[in-house]
Amino acid sequence: MDWGLANRMARIINPKTGKTVMLALDHGYFLGPTHRLEEPRKTIEPLLPYADTIMLTRGVLRSSVDPESCANVVLRVSGGVSIVGPALEDEGITTSFKDAIRLNVAGVGISVFVGTSHERQTLLNLAELVNQGQEYGIPVLGITAVGKELEKRDARYLSLCCRICAELGAHIIKTYYCEDFEKVTTSCPAPIVIAGGPKLETEMDVFELTYNAIQRGAVGVDMGRNIWQNDHPVAIIRAIRAIVHEGFKPKQAHKLFLEIKSENQKAAATA
Ligand code: 5RP
Repeated sequence: MDWGLANRMARIINPKTGKTVMLALDHGYFLGPTHRLEEPRKTIEPLLPYADTIMLTRGVLRSSVDPESCANVVLRVSGGVSIVGPALEDEGITTSFKDAIRLNVAGVGISVFVGTSHERQTLLNLAELVNQGQEYGIPVLGITAVGKELEKRDARYLSLCCRICAELGAHIIKTYYCEDFEKVTTSCPAPIVIAGGPKLETEMDVFELTYNAIQRGAVGVDMGRNIWQNDHPVAIIRAIRAIVHEGFKPKQAHKLFLEIKSENQKAAATA
């Protein structure tokens, strides 16, 4: 791997632990003002110190993240569709490599929609990004199974998606956790991170999801709603970090969550 690509990969996946906590903030690119991400700056700022990487669009990056923050950025560069349009999977590439380089990104991310009528178009978009990523030393995150495709959330379908992304040259792949998840990770030669999906019922559910994914071969999370839709987003991201980077078990992470939550509540009461 060339130096620039390796250097950027190290900005995404921490070389000391081989793991990553990516904070997903890109939902607005097809969902508009998602609950608790209505004012992105307010959501992002308190969480920035605890994310290895933030994943978002150039519009939210430029408007809502200070350049001095030193955040590592994976830029969402696919889109062009919306939740109310006719076909969520009919995505194109929205952002040039020139602009991604201007934004000093650590990587770029694009969704693929395997099994839909736009499978070929979205896979070729990924391949084209990889061509350019190789040229400029920028890793490409392939994102599988969004929208209606989520209904097919099993190891067979997700292995197919992840393996195809890896074969096309994606440097890192984001998918969903499922039963027999080790089948997905062992058959994919590129590192895998998991999305969290819609907000789970309890914090313990989030910790178990994270722990199980890491145990079964994921290198981390690229998580959004289960962090910033929680009433205590800083406490939950810090507990997730402890699982990902320090090998905490779900119960230990939950204890840490409660401690941080209580510290933060006391600090807010005395402020
Ligand atoms: C949407 C995305 C999101 O970044 C992804 O779904 C992660 O967020 P969440 O944990 O909220 O599911 O790629 O296309």
